[in-house]
Amino acid sequence: MTGPAWDAFWSTLPAAPGAALWDSSPQLTAARHLPLFRDHADPLLPLVDIGCGNGRQTQWLARHFRRVIGLDIAESAVELAATSHAAPNAAYRRADLLDQDAAAALRAEFGDVNVYMRGVLHQLAPDNRARMLTTIRLLLGEFGVLFAQELTERTGWYVAELLDSGAPLPKTAGLAAHFSFGAPVAPAHDGRLRRLFEGNGFDVVADGDIPMHTTERTSDGQPLELPTRYIVARAPGLPSPQEKS
Ligand SMILES: C[S@@+](CC[C@H](N)C(=O)[O-])C[C@H]1O[C@@H](n2cnc3c(N)ncnc32)[C@H](O)[C@@H]1O
Repeated sequence: MTGPAWDAFWSTLPAAPGAALWDSSPQLTAARHLPLFRDHADPLLPLVDIGCGNGRQTQWLARHFRRVIGLDIAESAVELAATSHAAPNAAYRRADLLDQDAAAALRAEFGDVNVYMRGVLHQLAPDNRARMLTTIRLLLGEFGVLFAQELTERTGWYVAELLDSGAPLPKTAGLAAHFSFGAPVAPAHDGRLRRLFEGNGFDVVADGDIPMHTTERTSDGQPLELPTRYIVARAPGLPSPQEKS
C-alpha cells in the first residue's frame, strides 16, 4: 500500500486495541521476539521501529532499550502511537523509510541504531524492498542489529486455505480483500528470505519459523497464528557483544 493508503487505513481504524489484525499483545509479540535478538544487540544503542503503526510493540520495546524511535509513513499512525503508546524514552515520527534523504538524516542524527521491523517488507513493491534494505543497512551502521518478522508465500497459502475452508475469520477476510498475505507478493520463499538479506549486504546471524499472533479468534477461541519467518542480521564480519567481551 502507498503512504496515503496507509494514512487512510490508520485514520479510519477504530481506536480500540486489537482493531488491526496484527495488533496483538506485546506479550505474544515483541516479548517473544526480544530473546531472539537480545544477545546480539547492544541495548545502549537506540532502537528504531520501522513501520511502527500504532506503537503498541514500540512502547513495550522501550522498556528494554535506552531510547526508542517509532517511525511510520502514515501521519495518522504516528499521532495514534504518540497518544496511545507513549513512553518517557519513546518518540514517534512520520518518516518514509524508502526516502534515502530521510534515511541519511536519521543516520546523521542517531548514528548506529538497532532496528525492529514487523510486517513491513512484504507489503512493499519488489523494487522498494531492496531500497528498504539499503535504508536498514545505513541505519544499522557498524554495530546495530536488525530483528525482522516477515510474511512469506507460506503465509499466503495458509490464509488462502483457511478462507477457502469457510472458517469465520472476518478480519482476515477483510484484509485478504486488499492484501494477498504474501502469496504473490512475498519478499521471498521461506528459505530465500535469508538470502534476500545476505544478497543485500547483511550478515544473517539467526533466522527461523515464528508464528505471527493475530487479534482474530479461531472457532476454539484461540488467537489465530499465521506462519511467518524471522531474521536477525547486522553488518558483515563483526563480533557479537558476547564475542567482544
Ligand atoms: C502491517 S503494519 C505493521 C505495524 C507494526 N509494525 C506492528 O507490528 O504492529 C505496516 C506498517 O508499515 C508502515 N509503512 C509502510 N510503508 C512504509 C514506509 N515506506 N516507511 C515507513 N513506514 C511504512 C505502514 O504505515 C504500517 O503502519
